[in-house]
Amino acid sequence: MRSLANSITGKALLDKIRSDFIGIDTPYENVSGESSRRIYLDSTASSLMLRPAATVAADFMSHYSNTHSKLHHSANISTAEYTWAHERVLSFVGADPDIYTCFFTGAGTTSGINRMARVLRDLRPEKDSAIVSIMEHHSNDLPHRKHMRHVLHVPVEGLDENKMCISLPKLEAALKAGKGKINYVSMTAVSNVTGIINPIHEIARMAHKYGALLMVDGAQSVAHLPTQMHFPDDPESCIDALVFSGHKTYTPGSPGVVIARKDHLLSIEPEEVGGGMVSRVLEDRYMVKQEFPDREEAGTPNIPGAIALAATIEILDRIGMEFLAEEEDEVMVKAIKAIAQIPEIIVYGGTNLEECPRAASISFNIHGLDHGLVAALLNDRYNIAVRNQCFCAHPYVKEMMAADLEEEFGEIDFGNMSAEFMRKAGMVRASFGLYSTSDDVDALITALQDIVANGKTYGLDYEINDENDYVHRTYRPDHSQIFSVIGAIDKYLE
Ligand SMILES: Cc1ncc(COP(=O)(O)O)c(C=O)c1O
Repeated sequence: MRSLANSITGKALLDKIRSDFIGIDTPYENVSGESSRRIYLDSTASSLMLRPAATVAADFMSHYSNTHSKLHHSANISTAEYTWAHERVLSFVGADPDIYTCFFTGAGTTSGINRMARVLRDLRPEKDSAIVSIMEHHSNDLPHRKHMRHVLHVPVEGLDENKMCISLPKLEAALKAGKGKINYVSMTAVSNVTGIINPIHEIARMAHKYGALLMVDGAQSVAHLPTQMHFPDDPESCIDALVFSGHKTYTPGSPGVVIARKDHLLSIEPEEVGGGMVSRVLEDRYMVKQEFPDREEAGTPNIPGAIALAATIEILDRIGMEFLAEEEDEVMVKAIKAIAQIPEIIVYGGTNLEECPRAASISFNIHGLDHGLVAALLNDRYNIAVRNQCFCAHPYVKEMMAADLEEEFGEIDFGNMSAEFMRKAGMVRASFGLYSTSDDVDALITALQDIVANGKTYGLDYEINDENDYVHRTYRPDHSQIFSVIGAIDKYLE
């Protein structure tokens, strides 16, 4: 039975689930021996798990069975719910099921982008080039370099003003210059470094005008902003393929997701073959199924992961993505305004949110302190989890830091960098999810102000380890005592 009857939605639902994430209040001891709940500001890497989705997935396990059969009870339930998971994703991203299909892939967005790069290459082999931007995560850059003959990197604009948004005029110039050869543009909807939001529908219109398709890397957008792939009255604005990760959409352990046009997929043989996607196999030939998603899902899929993700998406949709985006925006606006007001901090990318709208991520550095030290201090002293280094986006980070680094180190060979240089060539990233609160931002700002004032002194307690990370000389928590699989099994078996 699927019904919204008697269910709460909107703000009431958000209030109910906001703190119902597994691990939102995990306590750790800090360098002074005090225990506090962790403040998780690393959602861009992976978001925390929405507990109701985990509960639903655990309940489903009572009925678990492989799919592709309806004969016994649990096969029937599994097949129906797994089918529903696909439908749920399609409606979440505004994709007409007559035109698009959805399929689940292995390791998050990366495997989906690799797959779609091969699909589009084989679909239009006469067009051997792809366009990406300089702001892409490596997972939306290297697959195109590997699978396409040529890849062009469109620069960002506003280098002088530190805007770091995609340059639409340069994108159009690249499309014009490569007309007839550009197979597709693949662009992130939201940067995983600066959180800057790209105008993907404008980019769609531009790509289509020059005969190119548009693939969108939705890894950082789908959980934070409403997504609309299809516009029946405006085909030029449609997105041809969208890829995102369940583990960044509040469902760790769930697969990557691809939404693509059925006519594209039907024009070529599926990139992956095996059981489940064929209707008949003889020794000398096989017949590929015409039905989706079977055709694209060879082998046994991650059924529980897909069901957990669909449960999350159902809940997000009941809250309403527009409303959710507004709520998250409040946290982002507060954070960026407060960080930008600290004169010793450099925020990367435009901080005028009218000009450079952002979602989820803010990357910065504190003058005179290495990114690794700042991240270690945030963790060790304040129990604030952030990420540092280059976030798998080396070209974009280099673009933003090159001038400052060259001032300090002289001319740089970015392909051959010393450990000392690597400790400077990177940033600290604070990133947010729907569970992030105004109090979390206050805690971050208080910590940053303290680090600005005392970071050099605190740094005297640190040394560099073999991995080029800052580690406290005496505070070395034994993480295997906090959690280990063997420890958890032993506890269970006690
Ligand atoms: C924008 C973007 N694209 C792609 C990826 C790769 O995602 P996954 O690790 O789920 O494959 C990430 C991961 O951080 C990302 O932020």
